[in-house]
Amino acid sequence: MIKIALLTRDCGGVNAAIRAVVRTAVGRGLRVEGVLRGYQGLMNGEFVPLDRRSVSNIIGLGGTILKTARAEEFRNEPGQEAALRNLRARGIDGLIVVGGNGSLAGARVLAERHGFPVVGVPATIDNDVPGVDLAIGADTGVNVALDAVDKLRDTATSLERIFVVEVMGRECGWIAMQVALAGGCEEVFLPEKKVSIEDLCAEIREGTRQGKASWIIVVAEGHSSAADIAAAVTATTGLETRIAVLGHIQRGGRPTAADRIMAARLGHAAVEALAEGRTGGLVHMDCGRVAFLPFGAAGDVKKTEIESDYHLLKVLS
Ligand code: F6P
Repeated sequence: MIKIALLTRDCGGVNAAIRAVVRTAVGRGLRVEGVLRGYQGLMNGEFVPLDRRSVSNIIGLGGTILKTARAEEFRNEPGQEAALRNLRARGIDGLIVVGGNGSLAGARVLAERHGFPVVGVPATIDNDVPGVDLAIGADTGVNVALDAVDKLRDTATSLERIFVVEVMGRECGWIAMQVALAGGCEEVFLPEKKVSIEDLCAEIREGTRQGKASWIIVVAEGHSSAADIAAAVTATTGLETRIAVLGHIQRGGRPTAADRIMAARLGHAAVEALAEGRTGGLVHMDCGRVAFLPFGAAGDVKKTEIESDYHLLKVLS
């Protein structure tokens, strides 16, 4: 293996992973080409050579210096063929893909359907990659959202008001649950769990009767919207509510130390795996050690245990 390519999605810690991939590869005598704009750039043949200096001072930056994009055409055979033609024309021997389920599904297609050597690195704020405890970017996403919740708590307490905060997570309520637990929130609505709004309103009425004056309710975007929950609470209790929708704020920002360190470990491990011929899977941390998981080995949906955390939230709130 002489030349590798690197393709990324964006979230906290991805630049730290780029740095780790490039410096590990260069240290092993490999050449690295960055793919600009994700799979869209791969289909268009947008490559940029990366050396040790091109990744200087990026460890603390959010997003991805390689930029990224949605690429619907890559789902189809012609798009995949175009990507492979560009990889071959550029003399690329192996590919590292850093991203969430969408990016890793693309990596799996290149590996399994087309036999190209690919290693994945899980990176997504949703933390919904099957078989992976923690993805790069998840810790940063939670901490960014928590910072917002802490600030809203100041206002909620001062004004004695109910706030409903909407966080990201289309199919997975992981961020919402983490933020709710860390922020000491009173309720959380998740895509994976049915929570009765009537029960919540009864709790709010009872709490109000006992002198409790402020509430922070978290809702994952995959469950419903902050606006809908707030309207339902106001309609039932007659109490004023305010909403905050955090959106893409959670995907940006300075990566936490934990994300930078995991990115260093996994970026390094991905190059080692590729160079040693362990391909067709992703690297991740398993009980503090780097592990290799073949694509698809953990199924298509991440199994999450939320009941105990939900119970804890309700006991402590
Ligand atoms: O999968 C990561 C994620 O940030 C989700 O939490 C969110 O729903 C989605 O991506 C947003 O995607 P886009 O940036 O394409 O709108």
